[in-house]
Amino acid sequence: MDIKTGFVGTVGNTPLIRINSFSDETGCEILGKAEFLNPGGSVKDRAALYIIEEAEKKGQLQPGGTVVEGTAGNTGIGLTHICNAKGYRCLIVIPETQSAEKIDLLRTLGADVRTVPAVPYRDPNNYVKVSGRLAEELDNAIWANQFDNLANRLAHYETTAPEIWHQTDGQIHAWTAATGTGGTYAGASLFFKEKNPDIRCVVADPMGSGLYSYVKTGEIQPEGNSVTEGIGNSRITANMEGAPIDDALQVDDPAALRVIYQLLYQDGLYMGGSVGINVGAAVALAKQMGPGHTIVTILCDSGSRYQSKIFSREWLESKGLWSDQLLPPSRD
Ligand SMILES: Cc1ncc(COP(=O)(O)O)c(C=O)c1O
Repeated sequence: MDIKTGFVGTVGNTPLIRINSFSDETGCEILGKAEFLNPGGSVKDRAALYIIEEAEKKGQLQPGGTVVEGTAGNTGIGLTHICNAKGYRCLIVIPETQSAEKIDLLRTLGADVRTVPAVPYRDPNNYVKVSGRLAEELDNAIWANQFDNLANRLAHYETTAPEIWHQTDGQIHAWTAATGTGGTYAGASLFFKEKNPDIRCVVADPMGSGLYSYVKTGEIQPEGNSVTEGIGNSRITANMEGAPIDDALQVDDPAALRVIYQLLYQDGLYMGGSVGINVGAAVALAKQMGPGHTIVTILCDSGSRYQSKIFSREWLESKGLWSDQLLPPSRD
């Protein structure tokens, strides 16, 4: 018998997918860990589970308690599913710029959702800081604090990366991922470097994020902006501190969109925006390293979370991001 115990038992153990179109194009094996197949639909289910179970172990979360978090969406979705499965309440603070699909889904799942204006981290009204204050004000509540709570990267160190290691028999030359909290990138790169210091660990960064310049020059100097969600940062989180970084690659939105639409029309994979940055960086890395290498990245969530944005021609046109390269191929 092969039966998973509830939602919690179904988190993780996702397939590793060879991305055929880009692998064939580059002569490298470009592999994507299919995190969109987690039961809550994203890579963040793993971090959400570790954060809640660590709070339970430490006795910080009592029956009927509340989990509070500031999130771009996916962590909140994972947390709310797990709270439902374990009998907790969930209070989510989210910037109003995040996709309506994610905000509506959080409400459908039963979270108490508070939308706030998107302001920088240094502003006291930033969504992360608001969530921290709300957690302090409530009784029997924890602040998940995904950016600086190391249970987040531990989830990837103990589960995501070992799964990839087994799925590839340890035959990996490079690892790349964009960072939001940094949990996925850092947890996996710490694991891979321990196993084999020659595995190249590369931060993938969208425009508008400060990590690319940080890796290249030591200064956090964000430039431009991006329509991708859940990734990019203008500070080094506790989860990113001490993470091995060999290099960084920047992928702009037009390049990420071409990747997303190629994944859809040539590989049959309907992916969210951060996957465009991840696979775009994996392809750039394949070109740098040359044919014959195996490069692993993350397929963080599905395109259905962004239907009204990056999959709407009208919306893309309003942002000046539409191009005829994004049209479906003719199958004549
Ligand atoms: C769609 C998406 N991609 C990537 C990430 C980045 O993951 P991490 O927070 O582990 O850096 C997130 C995080 O919220 C996300 O929502």
